[in-house]
Amino acid sequence: MIGAARNGLAVSITGLGVCVPDRVVTNDELAQHVDTSDEWIMERTGIRERRMVTREQALSDLALPAARDALADAGVEGKDIDLLIVATVTPDMAFPSTGALLGAALGAVDAAAYDLSAGCTGFMYGIAQAYGMVAAGLSKRALVVGGDVLSKILDWEDRSTLVLFGDGAGAVVIEPAPQEGFLGFELGADGAGGANLWLPGSGSRVFDDPDKYVKMNGREVFRFATRVLVQSAEALLEQCGVSIDDVDVYVPHQANVRIIDHATKKLGVPSERVVVNVDRYGNTSSGSIPLALADARADGRLRPGSLVLMTGMGAGLTWGSALMRWTKEAA
Ligand code: ACO
Repeated sequence: MIGAARNGLAVSITGLGVCVPDRVVTNDELAQHVDTSDEWIMERTGIRERRMVTREQALSDLALPAARDALADAGVEGKDIDLLIVATVTPDMAFPSTGALLGAALGAVDAAAYDLSAGCTGFMYGIAQAYGMVAAGLSKRALVVGGDVLSKILDWEDRSTLVLFGDGAGAVVIEPAPQEGFLGFELGADGAGGANLWLPGSGSRVFDDPDKYVKMNGREVFRFATRVLVQSAEALLEQCGVSIDDVDVYVPHQANVRIIDHATKKLGVPSERVVVNVDRYGNTSSGSIPLALADARADGRLRPGSLVLMTGMGAGLTWGSALMRWTKEAA
């Protein structure tokens, strides 16, 4: 799916909030559980540390503070939201949706609320859906949360996945704006590659060998990621008639610094325009892109008028890009 945002109302992000757990888990700490080292993890992934929730915490414990901050940033309240999307593969439970739970906690009593499953690409799918509903006039103001607590589904005996992921959540308010914010989206999925990153036995399909932990073919996902990050971004830029040289802030999914470096070089984005925080958070799945946006805002790169290119990829296998003009003033 690809399209430039030319047909409806001008729509933008008017509020942004994020939340990560307090607990920092270093590479050395993981090396006490599996046969790995800080040196290997740094060299192969660029990850130095990640955050993890406690046993008692669930996704909504991160999503709620992120959502409250996003609402405050936009200067609105929960009751002003009529659409609430939570993009995640680690909801509090299968049902009720974390979206519905969040709606109740925020006082968003009139909001349509649901969860969206698109792996690490969930936030990109979520903002595209919200954009479409707001641009068409169906929703007046949407809240999109991207977040995961992948530590809950990691095998502490599997070094090939344990070292990669962390927990975190981000939220944005999306509503009509005086100037055009979103300029276009490109989204896609390839279910044929789904078994390269999956959780067999987590739904209604019966497996002989079910698992409650993430299983991944790292090399295949690496190949897929390096390809789609470039293809999706290039297709969207062409669709919107924009050159990569015009992009001020590039926000790729934070999975692995080698994947980010590859995409950055292929696309031709100068390194100072690329947002990287995978070293501090690891791969936070749907939380990755909003957390990176918040960092770019905090370091002054995300300013009113900045042209922002975001691309996510993940389980599904899925991918998605958005191009937008940042319209929000500094916090
Ligand atoms: N510590 C030490 N050694 C390790 C570790 C570890 N944590 N993990 C694997 N190894 C070993 C392997 O067993 C292998 O050993 P061998 O040569 O004796 O067989 C060796 O290191 C090399 O393994 P590779 O898999 O070839 O290592 P590679 O350089 O490909 O890096 C990695 C592995 C980091 C997983 C990489 O493939 C990757 O980043 N893939 C993409 C993963 C990803 O982004 N997933 C998330 C997608 S988004 C989502 O939706 C969740």
